[in-house]
Amino acid sequence: MSETNLTGISAYQNISAFPLDSVFQPTHHVKLFHGNSNPELAHAVADYLNIPLGKALVTTFANNEIREKIEENVRGARVFVIQPTCGHVNDTLMELLIMIDALRRASAHQICAVIPYYGYAKQEKKTSGREPITAKLVANLITTAGADRIITCDLHAAAIQGFFDIPVDNLSALPIIAEHYQMKNIPVEDLVVVSPDAGGVARATNLAERLGAKLAIIFKRRPEPDKADVIDIVGDIAGKTCIVVDDMISTGGTLVKGVETLLTHGATKVYAAATHAIFAEDAVEIIENSSIEELIVTDTIPLSEQAKRMSKLKVLSLAPLLGETIRRTHFNLSVSELFV
Ligand code: R5P
Repeated sequence: MSETNLTGISAYQNISAFPLDSVFQPTHHVKLFHGNSNPELAHAVADYLNIPLGKALVTTFANNEIREKIEENVRGARVFVIQPTCGHVNDTLMELLIMIDALRRASAHQICAVIPYYGYAKQEKKTSGREPITAKLVANLITTAGADRIITCDLHAAAIQGFFDIPVDNLSALPIIAEHYQMKNIPVEDLVVVSPDAGGVARATNLAERLGAKLAIIFKRRPEPDKADVIDIVGDIAGKTCIVVDDMISTGGTLVKGVETLLTHGATKVYAAATHAIFAEDAVEIIENSSIEELIVTDTIPLSEQAKRMSKLKVLSLAPLLGETIRRTHFNLSVSELFV
């Protein structure tokens, strides 16, 4: 007899079928939920895991407050909420917080916030007096809402992991990006991986090592927020094929200025790769009009219709990586083995 078929008084009458010392111990079954920030990615992860997405209402009241309701039983479940905090970042973050709160109050056993793109990550330190550290504030909010663990990807600064006192798996798109370039069979002696700024050196080094390529670094400054100027390039890029690798593309200024400078200094071709395609302001246009050979991004952030039409853009999906990480988390298997 199925437990779920028991209703009303018959449920009490059949309680002896499930005594507390039953050999059928409660299992923490897996459930996946998502908000409105990237449903396509959530569906792709569910497909990888071959489980259905949980039913939840995520909408707004007439006064614009977010309204949510979990529409199925999650009691005792291990729940993964897939919600990159992208797009209208305040709304998508709030959707995540409210969903975690609803799941906690509905007695989920464990709640893992899967945040493939972590919004506010660029505000991870004070660069001058009287500034907030908003990335830490967001970590506090997510933890206070009731998350037990975090799965994220290519955090702008790896140190953001330490803003949480719960486990954080900071995944990397680099193995997938490296595989893409390996398939191009570019002779390694002609290949240079370029960090577009000092903050990205570890990321670029990792990709260079995976490809057996050399490393170069661009030094940039920001005369004002969202504006980038190249100061210098360190490394031998003349006559080489370059791959600029970054965590995110926002206005596209860092990337496009970097690419043009590399070409001016003698690079023969410049490819680019970034995990998070924010594409703010007129990024799509300036990238399309630039001399970039090809730009690789992932699907942590949904693309606009305009971005989908970009001739230079290729999107690699992180759904299998996220799905596999969820599977390994559930079965207490190593996640770092995915990145050797
Ligand atoms: C900066 O530190 C980041 O790693 C990216 O280089 C930056 O966020 C890209 O921003 P934008 O596209 O606006 O230059």
